[in-house]
Amino acid sequence: MPLGSRVIRRLSWLAPLLALVIVAACGQEYPQSSLFPKGDPARLEDGLFFETVKWATLVFVLVEGALLYAIFRFRGKPGDAEPAQIHGNTVVEVIWTVIPALILAMIAVPTVKAIFKENTRPTGNLLTIEVVGHQWWWEFRYPEYNLTTANELHVPVGRTVSLKMGAYDVIHSFWLPQFAGKRDVFPNRETRLWFNAEEPGEYSGQCAEFCGIQHGRMAFRVIAQPAGEFEGWVAHMKTITMQPVAAAAAPTDSVHTSSAGAAVQQQAKPGPQAADSTKAAPAQPQNPEVAQGQKLFLMKGCVGCHGLVAYNAPKGLLGPNLANVGARTYIGAGTLPNTDENLAHWIRFPQEVKHGVLMPNLGVTENEAKALVAFLRTHR
Ligand code: CUA
Repeated sequence: MPLGSRVIRRLSWLAPLLALVIVAACGQEYPQSSLFPKGDPARLEDGLFFETVKWATLVFVLVEGALLYAIFRFRGKPGDAEPAQIHGNTVVEVIWTVIPALILAMIAVPTVKAIFKENTRPTGNLLTIEVVGHQWWWEFRYPEYNLTTANELHVPVGRTVSLKMGAYDVIHSFWLPQFAGKRDVFPNRETRLWFNAEEPGEYSGQCAEFCGIQHGRMAFRVIAQPAGEFEGWVAHMKTITMQPVAAAAAPTDSVHTSSAGAAVQQQAKPGPQAADSTKAAPAQPQNPEVAQGQKLFLMKGCVGCHGLVAYNAPKGLLGPNLANVGARTYIGAGTLPNTDENLAHWIRFPQEVKHGVLMPNLGVTENEAKALVAFLRTHR
């Protein structure tokens, strides 16, 4: 055996150790990992993984140990007679067939059990959520609350979530490593997945089936909240309306408006309150940039694809529902952090940010983008 491969063989015991060190060191930096389970199905899968690693380690140590022992103990010297030939020894062949078969059975039995356990329909006080995969974003519908949202899935801690999943266009795969495994989603066919969030927090998920040019930018987040906080979110989502007048009164801390502190201004705007502002009492402060943003949203064609109301939202819109887009952490399904600059850039140059995306370049100017951002920021 050449020296190189001999060295590699002697140091091979380092490999699993190295893998463990890498996993331990990078775990927190790469949260999209199934090695840090925070819910039942993920815990089941993690258990299986370590069960397999345990057996693999045992086999590795025994086999490599026997090999090293044999190498040193029975090393041949020049002039030695030919050792005993045991080729075709039935006893030895039976032994080395039966032992691996037993090891595989040890792994197979808990694996099959886990597969069945994961596929049982959960019972009890379930929160059913419909998931629809689109090229390249995720739609989430809460039939219980008649709410629709996109790319950020809010769930309550401690209540089992049952996902009924499908796809709008092509096959995608819903993958939420810290709560559950991955499950393919298909057009015209329902698949299911369930999980229970054990701890509040934000968790990353991702499409795991190649579904077109932007498959890699089809991420989503799960925001697990304590039950009360979640109910608050639901109640809040139901109040989000199309009218910027009411919404503009809400905190807009991250909005960079050129007209901050501008005088109260009444502008003609669509919506019920525009009918007769003299009768509408009392007149509310209206940020002109927000009002312009709303006008642009309606005129530029955004409204053709995007809903702005989460409650009782129409189904079948081409684009993600934007009712709370102002509060989301990312835009473009995990493509960019949701800052004003990024949002404006995304609105102006969608094809540059995410080539192939269905959102067309609508010829929005820099100032128009600013107004649209101000308007969208009020939807939070
Ligand atoms: Cu959707 Cu990959």
